Amino acid sequence: MRLLVCGGAGFIGSNFVRMRVRDHGDEVVVLDKLTYAGRRENLADVEHVFVHAGIEDPGKVAEAVAGCDAIVNFAAETHVDRSIAEPDAFVTTHAQGTYVLLEAARHAEVRYLQVSTDEVYGSIEEGSFTEASPLQPSSPYSATKTGADLLVASYFHTYALETLICRGSNNYGPYQYPEKLIPLMILNALHADPLPVYGDGQQVRNWLHVEDFGRGIGHVLEHGEPGEVYNVGGPDECPNLEVVQRVIALTGASDELIQYVTDRPGHDRRYSLGSEKVRALGWEAQTHFTEGLERTVDWYRDNPAWWEPIRSGDYRAYYERQYGSQLR
Ligand code: NAD
Ligand code: DAU
Repeated sequence: MRLLVCGGAGFIGSNFVRMRVRDHGDEVVVLDKLTYAGRRENLADVEHVFVHAGIEDPGKVAEAVAGCDAIVNFAAETHVDRSIAEPDAFVTTHAQGTYVLLEAARHAEVRYLQVSTDEVYGSIEEGSFTEASPLQPSSPYSATKTGADLLVASYFHTYALETLICRGSNNYGPYQYPEKLIPLMILNALHADPLPVYGDGQQVRNWLHVEDFGRGIGHVLEHGEPGEVYNVGGPDECPNLEVVQRVIALTGASDELIQYVTDRPGHDRRYSLGSEKVRALGWEAQTHFTEGLERTVDWYRDNPAWWEPIRSGDYRAYYERQYGSQLR
């Protein structure tokens, strides 16, 4: 297959591209705006064609899709805290950008897969969300992702475009930008920097190794039923404080580094996805959290050349804004 992968220079997209080229022999065109989260370095070891453009640019998208069999869209603003501080780019990329890609898919008559998130369902105290659960997003990030999902669904109903939606739970693994919980905690622990825990640290996330999500997306692209949504949830749930304690144990850091900071506004308490539908299609998660977290800590420890330029660049300004005065 020849795939147009939008947002392929980010965390999940680059892992997906690597797996598709290596394991499936696909040809891949990556279209990416290279925001702070997108890096050519993430794809340094993978053969691909690269187009530097935003998904909201119809001309560049139309050129890039020519000759492709499908579009897989990872492109997004993805950090909830940034969506609370500055929502603008979330609206542009998720609404206008998704619209431009859908139009391109419609005119090129190719299959379209939207990478979405469990956050569209909101928070759940007990049990797990199914694909039929109501959509109740909480943050500007999740609300704009939900809008994109609804637009995708409308292109199936109105134009019979072959659309698919994959809603993933919290991913972790190599190449994740260190604004997210796990890479932030690993790198801070390795540097003996404070470990900022929001609120009481008892929020629960459903952890999915990035390669399991990538395999799930590829599986749905090949075998999914057009017009359908597939939840792709991780095999293990874990409260944030326990995640931080596990990172401390794996890095040999001191638990005195833990610092409780002001909670995220509108913070979702728990996410949990039921993934029976994608299992029935033949996908199964392969990596449990204990093993996957250990491998992830090793990857960050062994790859300072990847994260050193991030920690010394614009990231410092973000970090100061987000945590600065709260950390001792
Ligand atoms: P990321 O922030 O690491 O990467 C996003 C990529 O999109 C970057 O390469 C960035 O440059 C690119 N991008 C942003 N705006 C763009 C635009 N307008 N045009 C073109 N490219 C643009 O994100 P990620 O964690 O890899 O997430 C990828 C997708 O998976 C997102 O759609 C996200 O909502 C979804 N998702 C993420 C998780 C998670 O835990 N990280 C879980 C479920 C779903
Ligand atoms: O659930 C899928 C979603 O997971 C994706 O759609 C998002 O793109 C992705 O960013 C992620 O969202 P979360 O908000 O769950 O992830 P984050 O890593 O930002 O935070 C995980 C939990 O850890 C959350 O409860 C907030 C908490 N947290 C986070 C940071 C960065 C802390 O306690 N301290 C921190 O410093």
